Amino acid sequence: MDVSVIVPTFNEAPNVPELVRRIETALEGRTAEIVFVDDSTDDTPAAILRAAARAQIPVRLIHRDHPAGGLSGAVLGGLAATVGEWCVVMDGDLQHPPELIPVLLASGVDQVADVVVASRHISGGSSAGLSGFVRRLVSSAATVLTRAMFPTRLRNCTDPMTGFFAVRRSSVDLGSLRPRGFKILLEILARNAVTVVEVPFVFGERHAGESKADFRQGLRFVTQLATLRFGRLSGFALIGALGAVGNLAIMALLQAFGVWYLLAAIIAAVVTMVTNFLLQERFVFHDLREEGRHVWTRLAQSFGFNGAETTLRTYLLWVVVSVTSIPSVAAQAALLTAGFVLRFVYHSRVVYRPKRTSSAGYGVEAAPGFLADRSAGNDARAR
Ligand code: GDD
Ligand code: MN
Repeated sequence: MDVSVIVPTFNEAPNVPELVRRIETALEGRTAEIVFVDDSTDDTPAAILRAAARAQIPVRLIHRDHPAGGLSGAVLGGLAATVGEWCVVMDGDLQHPPELIPVLLASGVDQVADVVVASRHISGGSSAGLSGFVRRLVSSAATVLTRAMFPTRLRNCTDPMTGFFAVRRSSVDLGSLRPRGFKILLEILARNAVTVVEVPFVFGERHAGESKADFRQGLRFVTQLATLRFGRLSGFALIGALGAVGNLAIMALLQAFGVWYLLAAIIAAVVTMVTNFLLQERFVFHDLREEGRHVWTRLAQSFGFNGAETTLRTYLLWVVVSVTSIPSVAAQAALLTAGFVLRFVYHSRVVYRPKRTSSAGYGVEAAPGFLADRSAGNDARAR
């Protein structure tokens, strides 16, 4: 079998016949199969068996009575049940156009890649079919933050949230994956050193039925990031916390020597911004220092951002406290959190932004010593 198309399904009966027909047409002339991994509680299995009887290519049904790991677990089960060189993973509701499958496969072969991602976020792609403004906003924010957490592993992947991709079966160590929730591609890319290329695609409208994404999936996604140890965010946060403690210590010390408290605060802020920068350079982004920017540029960008962020945050605090009844400490806590996330994204995606590589580039999300992103694996483990 050359190509196995893996389709996780949860109550997708009305979409099955059309999906099988279009996959079949798209893969004409190849040795291919379709593998449904089904956790449905409706008559989807029967619909799959009917479509299988009519189909020209083999259609397999794996029905799980104990749906461990949800969507990700289903995809992993599908990958484990196939032997073909390439696996294509796609949704069962036709939001992923089957006609793109040959393009994914051709890109993988031509560019000698391990994973071909159908991306909504490169030129020619679009997430038009993602329903609702809030859902689109959450999706974009999650994408930006995730790419900031894994800047090298996701160097060549603009859409780690997509559920449509092709993978060279031998390049992924299935044992390394911890399936939970909806985001299996992120799991694959974060834990395996694979070469990635992308093909744009338009995320269409659902053919029939309803989406299964909900708030609970969002929480599972946060758990997934935590299990991946938040990538670089962990080290960044640890150094930030040390910096805050250092800041207070310097202020106390200066005041003990009779320095006026506001001057002491400014000196403490400047000293911690510079030492934080040096620590982040050394421990969090050391492998991204050679991506093009000069060290003075990086320091200026970092210092400029932190200075502007502190000023703006203080101003916003004043605005919030004067026009709302939110207590100042609660307002400051919210602003500090938002400021921290923005600072992290800015450093990872601007100051240390990795260049895209050709398909030969491996992303290795690792740092030496205590801040190493060990959970994300390394070259030795993945290959
Ligand atoms: N086997 C199985 N088990 N399949 C599931 C489960 C489950 O617990 N939950 C959902 N699915 C199937 C659905 O039947 C569908 O084929 C596919 O997974 C995607 O689910 P949707 O409910 O259509 O999700 P969506 O359209 O909101 O989300 C899509 O977009 C995301 C990006 O924004 C999916 O493609 C996600 O994979 C993708 O991350
Ligand atoms: Mn869908």
